[in-house]
Amino acid sequence: MPAFTATAPGKIILIGEHAVVYGQPAIAVPVNQVQVRAIVTPKPGGKEFRVTAPAIGVDTPWDHLPPESPLRAALEGVCRTLGVRGLPAGQLKIQSTIPVAAGLGSGAAVSVALLRAVSAFLGAPLTDEQVNALAFEVEKIHHGTPSGIDNTVVTYAQPVYFVKGEPVQTFRVAAPFTLVIGDTGLPAPTKETVGDVRTGWQRDERRYERMFAALGSLTRAAHQAIVAGHPERLGPLMNEAHDWLCEMGVSHPKLDALVQAAREAGALGAKLSGGGRGGNMIALVNPDQADAISLAMRKAGAVNTITTRVQG
Ligand code: MEV
Repeated sequence: MPAFTATAPGKIILIGEHAVVYGQPAIAVPVNQVQVRAIVTPKPGGKEFRVTAPAIGVDTPWDHLPPESPLRAALEGVCRTLGVRGLPAGQLKIQSTIPVAAGLGSGAAVSVALLRAVSAFLGAPLTDEQVNALAFEVEKIHHGTPSGIDNTVVTYAQPVYFVKGEPVQTFRVAAPFTLVIGDTGLPAPTKETVGDVRTGWQRDERRYERMFAALGSLTRAAHQAIVAGHPERLGPLMNEAHDWLCEMGVSHPKLDALVQAAREAGALGAKLSGGGRGGNMIALVNPDQADAISLAMRKAGAVNTITTRVQG
């Protein structure tokens, strides 16, 4: 019996994180160097549908997964959407090269790959819209009150200009550009930072709305620069966005150290990316300087770096 396989890429937020939860635009791009692969192997005559995800220590029949498990939520979501009562005998294996809790969208990528592979196994592949909507439901388990940007960029695997509640907008990157992604090695507590920003906003709405609006303007300018073929203009916009995120309290000395090292080594701009207080930062670089900047970031404490070219 053939297996049913689906993959989903990682992602980074280029600009607009946190403000996007409050209705401002943000830009996210896929990172194809890392990915999740979900493989469903039918087991005719078998008794159970088993889930194996070695990276997170899961190897169990699916109905033994705890009720709060995102994997279980995704599997129940496929069954509900397709109107099936249970899963036929089979094995779902999830393999991932996306670091967990690093701001690279590993949770969203697991959901998207799983939803596609399992729905194909059930003989009714979900549409992108269905995958995106179900992955968003699972994101709420991971992140509390997410904007939906992570599941959207991972589902469509293209750069997205995202505004919460609006139709998905993918866009053309007129001139490709290069980013170096630097991992602090600290888990990014996205649920916590999103929650803390919410508490801050509830306490001082005017101050936070000002910061969100500033980040929104930077994102609109970044979008214009990318579609006009002037990605070099992103550098100062990224630097300014990092300052606002620091002001919001979601940076971390390790992120700041990598940002500074990247800038000193010649990056055109650098900022934290995603929820913050850990996870990754990104630097916009001239391609011929990528190796030197990546080395400088490693010397400043990055446990891993990925150089990625944004195009589409
Ligand atoms: C997380 O990748 C991006 C945040 O803006 C949260 C969200 O949009 O759901 C921090």
